[in-house]
Amino acid sequence: MIKIYKFETIDIPRLIAWIPDARFLLQWAGPQYTFPLDEAQFMKTYEQTKGENPSHFMFKAIHTQKQDVIGHLELMKVDYKKRSAVLGQILIGDSAKRGKGYGYQMVQAILRFAFDDLALKEIDLGVFDFNHSAIKCYQKAGFQPYKIQQNNRQFGDEYWTLIKMKLSEELWQKP
Ligand SMILES: CC(C)(COP(=O)(O)OP(=O)(O)OC[C@H]1O[C@@H](n2cnc3c(N)ncnc32)[C@H](O)[C@@H]1OP(=O)(O)O)[C@@H](O)C(=O)NCCC(=O)NCCS
Repeated sequence: MIKIYKFETIDIPRLIAWIPDARFLLQWAGPQYTFPLDEAQFMKTYEQTKGENPSHFMFKAIHTQKQDVIGHLELMKVDYKKRSAVLGQILIGDSAKRGKGYGYQMVQAILRFAFDDLALKEIDLGVFDFNHSAIKCYQKAGFQPYKIQQNNRQFGDEYWTLIKMKLSEELWQKP
């Protein structure tokens, strides 16, 4: 079983080691970070998670039987008035552990946090169209695409298409 816990600064080096190159970084997090990563870049994000009613939450995902940190994910742009947020930066660190259902469990855990604990009503996200495992994972939880942004990002001579997806609390496919 996968559970999510608050991300701490002690977790930063592990997260950095999970990102092998600039291409993967852009696929995972969009343009918010630059490669090579360093602690200072994550500290900037971490600062936003402090205080009461933060606009940003960072989590690590732990495989409870193995007591092993396997992943990372974030709830961003939390708007307590509109009761909305953006799900992002989801990652299973070890590629050998992908495709085993852990990502889906992580998405469900963060949705429980967002809808049940924070009482949010709508979650948004963006995913590149070639990222089939991520799209499938989000769809399984109930996310629906609502906008396609062609040429959203450039990587070398490639232009990447972004799919925007959203999920309302009513349409959430609770496990
Ligand atoms: C995206 C990610 C978190 C998904 O987690 P995961 O553990 O690999 O996904 P799951 O095993 O939970 O799979 C969820 C669904 O997607 C399907 N799926 C998994 N890998 C797939 C692939 N390569 N192609 C198509 N479908 C795939 C699964 O079969 C499952 O659907 P099912 O239960 O109906 O069979 C993980 O693959 C990852 O870390 N990717 C790299 C980082 C990244 O791109 N993050 C997303 C940024 S938007």
